Amino acid sequence: MSGSGIGHDQWKTRFGFMLAAMGSAVGLGNIWRFSYVAGESGGATFLLIYLFFVLIIGIPLLLTEFSIGKAGQMDAVGSFKRLAPNTKWHLTGLMGVIGGILILSFYSVVSGWTLFYLYQYVTGAYWTEPDGGFGAAFEAWTSNPVAPLFWQALFLGLTILIVMRGIKKGIEKANNLLMPALAILLIFMAVYGLTLDGASEGLAFLFTPDWSMLTEPSVYFMALGQAFFSLSIGICGMLTYSSYLKAKDRLPAATVGIGLMDTVFALIAGVMIFTAVFSYGVEPDSGPPLVFIILPSIFEGMPAGHIVGIVFFVLLTMAAFSSALSLLELPVAYVHRTLGLTRKAATLIMGSIIFVLGIAASLGFGVWSHIQINGNNILDMMDNITANVILPLGGLLMAIFVGWYLNRNQAINNSEIESPILQKVWYNIVRFLVPVVMIVILFISLFDI
Ligand code: PHE
Ligand code: NA
Repeated sequence: MSGSGIGHDQWKTRFGFMLAAMGSAVGLGNIWRFSYVAGESGGATFLLIYLFFVLIIGIPLLLTEFSIGKAGQMDAVGSFKRLAPNTKWHLTGLMGVIGGILILSFYSVVSGWTLFYLYQYVTGAYWTEPDGGFGAAFEAWTSNPVAPLFWQALFLGLTILIVMRGIKKGIEKANNLLMPALAILLIFMAVYGLTLDGASEGLAFLFTPDWSMLTEPSVYFMALGQAFFSLSIGICGMLTYSSYLKAKDRLPAATVGIGLMDTVFALIAGVMIFTAVFSYGVEPDSGPPLVFIILPSIFEGMPAGHIVGIVFFVLLTMAAFSSALSLLELPVAYVHRTLGLTRKAATLIMGSIIFVLGIAASLGFGVWSHIQINGNNILDMMDNITANVILPLGGLLMAIFVGWYLNRNQAINNSEIESPILQKVWYNIVRFLVPVVMIVILFISLFDI
């Protein structure tokens, strides 16, 4: 397509785009968020509903989001403006930009903890249990008003350095290194997990559904939010990535590959974490700190646990990093165009705003821990609002945009699906199934939660 936005960068290869989009999808969501949400929502039943949502809503919507960006060839807001001039549809893009800023604000806090834990494993500080245990150490660490901010800044600083360099030279290059390494490390961890004693119990927790949980509305709500968060859909980050594609690079196969890859990562991470959790006899529903408190105690008791700990936190940091790149690129692309800033300036400014917002999330574990709603601290609130409201709402709007605003031919052309049967299936999913299922779930949860 000609006439892409001024200075609009491009991926060097389609494979580079795929790795970057996989990098966006695979992140803290697959390991940190997936394991605590699955642990709190009953394990296998949650997993089943989650997989169902990924398949019938997530992957079709991922293609929907990609199709808007590829046809629009501009950032989140610009792509909607180009496809729907003189309408309010671009507000979907603006909501995405705000959502991306909010997610990266708390995401960089957790990523900072990850980086710090990696440091503790490299120096050997966490090879043995600190005084008072890993739980107390985590509390002391997160409630410290200053130190976590340093690690959060370090993580964001690295993210800024890469995003500044642009698509080809920055984001694509980084993912070309990160993603293969990530895959190798994850396979190592999964194979190791399966050799542990409690493996069968962990597998049972993940793969033997408790059917009575199917009548629990919150499980659907949580599974939907997790599917959106994990696939990075609904906030136009994926849209922004697809806008850097060349016309000849087709979408459908890449979309399915990205969706499957993210799901495989979640499953392997789930196997790894729950086999470890059960073999060391801890409760699976211990919430967000699961990865930071339980895993270190488990690593301590394992043969060569310090190596496993290093590998695990390298993996978690890299996964977080490749996702953070996409979260920062989303608002950067928007302000780069609209404010006429250089990419460098745009990246620095957005990164700084995100850092400042993240400070609030970080302090919510210490000096601001009294700021709570229903037991949720500031980080939990940012997480809930984005994963359970902004992302699903954004996804719903994109489904309505492509299913109802664009005409059938436009929608199907933009999707680049070739088989007439699949065109029909995808189009009807986007037009009818996605809106109906999502509106039902939103209603049920409104009246139940
Ligand atoms: N998908 C990422 C994860 O699983 C998080 C993310 C959400 C990234 C939305 C970009 C956009 O960690
Ligand atoms: Na993910």
